[in-house]
Amino acid sequence: MLDPAEFIKANMRLAPVPALPEVRLYQAHPGSGLRRLLEPDDGDEGGAEPQPPYWAYAWAGGAVLARYVLDRPSIVAGKRVLDLGAGSGLVGIAAAKAGARAVTAAEVDRNGVAALRLNAEANGVAIQICEGDVTNGPPPAVELVLAGDVFYAQDVGQRMMPFLDRCLTAGIDVLVGDPGRAWLPRPRLCLLGEYQVPDVGGNGGGEPKPSAVFALVAEPG
Ligand SMILES: C[S@@+](CC[C@H](N)C(=O)[O-])C[C@H]1O[C@@H](n2cnc3c(N)ncnc32)[C@H](O)[C@@H]1O
Repeated sequence: MLDPAEFIKANMRLAPVPALPEVRLYQAHPGSGLRRLLEPDDGDEGGAEPQPPYWAYAWAGGAVLARYVLDRPSIVAGKRVLDLGAGSGLVGIAAAKAGARAVTAAEVDRNGVAALRLNAEANGVAIQICEGDVTNGPPPAVELVLAGDVFYAQDVGQRMMPFLDRCLTAGIDVLVGDPGRAWLPRPRLCLLGEYQVPDVGGNGGGEPKPSAVFALVAEPG
C-alpha cells in the first residue's frame, strides 16, 4: 500500500490556487497518476466505482467560499470553524489565514486526509482533522460551518442536509459555496456574494464560472 503523503509529495505540484493566490495546494497534473493511490477494495459494498480523487482539486464551491472568507475576515475571526467536506482543505486553510480561532476539517477520503494535512502544513496553518463521517454525529463545537461544494451528488447532499439542519438548530451559522450544482438546496439559501472562479477541469483550473456564497437558512415553520 502506497503512503498517500509520500505519493502526493512525489507526484503532485504545490502551487497557488487560481483566484486564491494566498493559498498553495498540492494539485494534480496530467502525469500525477492518482489512480495508483486506489486500493483494490476501494468503492462501496455495492461494487460501485471508487470515489474519484476530489481532494486533488480546488472546486469552484470551495474556491468561492475561500475567496469570500479571505476578503471578509470578520466572518471567521476569533471563531471555531468546521470545514465540512474539506477535500484539499482550501476552505479551512483560508479560514485559518483569515483569523479563525480554531479550524477543524472533516473529510471521509483517507487520501484527502493526507492531502489536507500536507496542504495545511504548506500554508503554515494549524488544522485539526476529523477523519470520518461527521454527518452522523451531533453538531460540532464550532460557531460556523463552511461547506464548499458538497452538493455535487444527491446522496452526499441528502446526508449533509440533516446534519446542517442540526447545526442551525444548535445556533451554528452555515455558509455554503457552490457554482450551482444540481443538488443545491436553493429554497434554503440566502445569497451573500458572487465571484467568478475556476472550477475543476484542467491543470491550473478550468474556465472561470459564476459561483456563489450562501447562508443556509432554517426551514420555515
Ligand atoms: C466536491 S469535493 C469539495 C472539496 C472542497 N471543499 C473544495 O471545495 O475544493 C467534496 C468533498 O466532500 C467529501 N465528503 C463527502 N461526504 C462527506 C462526509 N459525509 N463527511 C466529510 N466529507 C465528505 C468528499 O470526500 C470530497 O472530498
